[in-house]
Amino acid sequence: MDRKKIEKELNNQLNKEFYSSYLYMAMSAYCESISLPGFAHWMKSQAQEELFHAMKFYDYIIERGLKVDLLKIDQPEKEWESPVNIFEEVLKHEQCITESINNLVSVVEEEKDYATRIFLDWFVSEQVEEEASADAVLQKLKLTGGQGSALFMIDKELSTRVFTPPVTNE
Ligand code: FEO
Repeated sequence: MDRKKIEKELNNQLNKEFYSSYLYMAMSAYCESISLPGFAHWMKSQAQEELFHAMKFYDYIIERGLKVDLLKIDQPEKEWESPVNIFEEVLKHEQCITESINNLVSVVEEEKDYATRIFLDWFVSEQVEEEASADAVLQKLKLTGGQGSALFMIDKELSTRVFTPPVTNE
């Protein structure tokens, strides 16, 4: 097993999870600026969830006796075209993360690193939920036209999201 290769891949994914948190904080700030506090709250909860993901990788890297390498975090966009566009971008981003996790699974399988394969199972399932929750909001926005009173109602609904760190065996 190439431990250096595994270390690099895990640190890359750690960076992507931190970037995800950064991206959702940027979206949250933008939603605040266009007077959508419920959207802003949803994005902030999502950012917290991403930090939780990042810390799972951080703790795992250390637990395996590998080195954490905190890479530079890219600057996210600052503005989006519309509420629909924001959720299109959320879904697109989560699809990229799913692809990244799947690639990571392929690498650790090639390297016969079965412990990391098991660790990644949680993320494989989590990504199904991540995509589904983004898509659910996107579909609702599209169906209702995402404007006026419909937008107001969706904003109210999104304000009820509560982030509770999932209980895991890690
Ligand atoms: Fe950490 Fe939203 O994937």
